[in-house]
Amino acid sequence: MAKKHILIVPGDGIGQEVTLVGKKVLDKIATKFNHEFTYDEALIGHVAIEATGVALPDESLEKMRNADAVLFGAVGHPKYDNDPSAKVRPEQGLLKMRKELGLYANLRPIKLFDELLSASSIKPEILKGADILFFRELTGDIYFGEKGRKNDGDTAYDIAEYSRYEVQRIGRKAFEAARTRRKKLCSVDKANVLETSRLWREEIQKLALEYPDVEVEHQFVDSTAMMLIKDPRRFDVVVTANLFGDILTDEASQIAGSMGMLASASIGDGTGVYEPIHGSAHDITGKGIANPLASILSAALLLDISFGMKAESDLVISAVDKVLKEGYRTVDIADATTAKDKILGTAAMGEAVLKFL
Ligand code: IPM
Ligand code: MG
Repeated sequence: MAKKHILIVPGDGIGQEVTLVGKKVLDKIATKFNHEFTYDEALIGHVAIEATGVALPDESLEKMRNADAVLFGAVGHPKYDNDPSAKVRPEQGLLKMRKELGLYANLRPIKLFDELLSASSIKPEILKGADILFFRELTGDIYFGEKGRKNDGDTAYDIAEYSRYEVQRIGRKAFEAARTRRKKLCSVDKANVLETSRLWREEIQKLALEYPDVEVEHQFVDSTAMMLIKDPRRFDVVVTANLFGDILTDEASQIAGSMGMLASASIGDGTGVYEPIHGSAHDITGKGIANPLASILSAALLLDISFGMKAESDLVISAVDKVLKEGYRTVDIADATTAKDKILGTAAMGEAVLKFL
């Protein structure tokens, strides 16, 4: 029996809908395993801007610092996407949260549930058995370097920067993870062009000497993008910089059938943050059809990584597996063979998972 305080941060769009379901799953686990989970909520993103004028209010940050873990939804709103000149943007909340909490490692496991083989647009025989763990660096690179305009606003720049220390700490996490898996690490960069990538490669090569049991390869990001689709099974652990990781993990989400299935963990110096890879999806917001499985699987990662509750986490994953085996689908993972009565909305999919818990 453990006592834990969890902060629920639903954010924008379908974040509100799916995070509610993720929380229900945590609640059920607490009851089942006799843990005492307490909860609080905090604002981020567009909803925070509307309420307070900023994307991450100090109050939210304080609550995050004091929580044992954060279950996060998504941020974003179409109104800002069409207005590049907006000074306050929902995404600022997410970036500030990552920086302030020191969340330098973003783990994005790409694992295909066998039942969803046909939901992907990639051929099943290419996909079957694919299991990749991405380590995306999350607090450096072009995301956080100096940015601005010059020549009276006619030229814009974003500076990419990495220190040796920043590469080492994410590199180490990736090597450690590879040790517990198939002992293969692919470090992705663009060392044929970028200086930050050359420093990245130097540091990973140095680390490799400390992990002789892990087989290391270095790949360029463009060719990695190609190989992910051509032969996803060749990858085990992949470690890469912030921007490359952002792009490659969206691409890799298709290996798992749908963005709606993928969970992620952001970890570092303090409180861990767990969130679906998908965004706020305003096109389907309010319709009750969003897939809550990524939030549920994020809750599973939270239990495992932040609380060390492996049995609890495994139970959540196996409940998701059973629901899929029973043939239940949300629209994003349904196909032509799915019976109409097996297609569930957000809340019903959540209930189905709870039933198997
Ligand atoms: C992600 C998202 C964010 C990112 C956006 C919303 C700022 O795409 O978490 O992958 O680029 O990191
Ligand atoms: Mg992204």
